[in-house]
Amino acid sequence: MGLARDPEKAAVLAALGIEIRTGDYFDYDSLKRAFAGVEKVLLVPTHAFTDRSTQHANVIAAAAEVGVKHLVYTPIIRKAGSAFELPQVTEPDAFTIKTLEASGLQSTILGHPPYIENFPFYIGADAFESGVRVPAGDGKVASAAREDLAEAQAVVLTDPGHEGKTYALHGAPAVSFSDLAQILSEIRGTAVHHVPLSDEAYLEHMVAGGLPGPAAEFALRWIHAINGGEWDDQPGDLERLLGRKPTTIAEFLRDYPAAA
Ligand SMILES: NC(=O)c1ccc[n+]([C@@H]2O[C@H](COP(=O)([O-])OP(=O)(O)OC[C@H]3O[C@@H](n4cnc5c(N)ncnc54)[C@H](OP(=O)(O)O)[C@@H]3O)[C@@H](O)[C@H]2O)c1
Repeated sequence: MGLARDPEKAAVLAALGIEIRTGDYFDYDSLKRAFAGVEKVLLVPTHAFTDRSTQHANVIAAAAEVGVKHLVYTPIIRKAGSAFELPQVTEPDAFTIKTLEASGLQSTILGHPPYIENFPFYIGADAFESGVRVPAGDGKVASAAREDLAEAQAVVLTDPGHEGKTYALHGAPAVSFSDLAQILSEIRGTAVHHVPLSDEAYLEHMVAGGLPGPAAEFALRWIHAINGGEWDDQPGDLERLLGRKPTTIAEFLRDYPAAA
């Protein structure tokens, strides 16, 4: 079953036979009603730039109170000892994991890398024409496609034996922004260059392309972390859960920019 604060928005799922219960992460009693009789909960973080910690704490406490056994959470992956901080993302993730550990619920942590779907957001919709114009760096990122992540999550929720485990769902292969320019060149059949920009020039380029300033700043923080190698690991967890190779960034970007 699924939870929605407005079940009308989940009508497409209801049409597939999925029971939709009404619940709002800010409304504790609604969560208790929604979780009644439920054994496992998948908590996908709510919107960044909202009070995620309160919402997540409500979900965990309501689940524990009504007897849910197992809660699965999907934070952004961080390397051990990482200096990567993005207050809207990493702080509520750390808080949520700590709250979950103290809750008495069984848990599974499914770390997400940056989604492949984010790349048009990072490099702008005009990359085929004007190049991959991002700040310099040769770090690599092993992104994963959302459908693959969703499928892996379904495996964890439906197969036994994942309680108490932490997985890091990197895709493969890891690519740098130079590799990305090469991939776009191969897709288009003409040279697409990696054009290193200063941070200021990157922000100007993205805002000129229509991205609001704060969103461009947010994208820049992710690019710095990618260039620093925050998500370059290849643990193979995603492939093992899927039982097949995950979608590659080249496969995904063949449809670019329709995929943006
Ligand atoms: N790893 C990555 O690269 C990456 C990139 C982008 C996003 N993400 C993650 O993906 C997830 C979705 O992000 P998104 O920006 O794409 O959001 P989204 O598609 O807008 O989905 C957010 C969902 O959460 C629901 N929601 C929000 N507040 C709620 C509340 N108080 N109670 C119940 N439901 C609530 C929304 O319901 P309504 O329809 O009612 O608003 C909506 O269905 C987040 O966890 C985000 O961190 C990860």
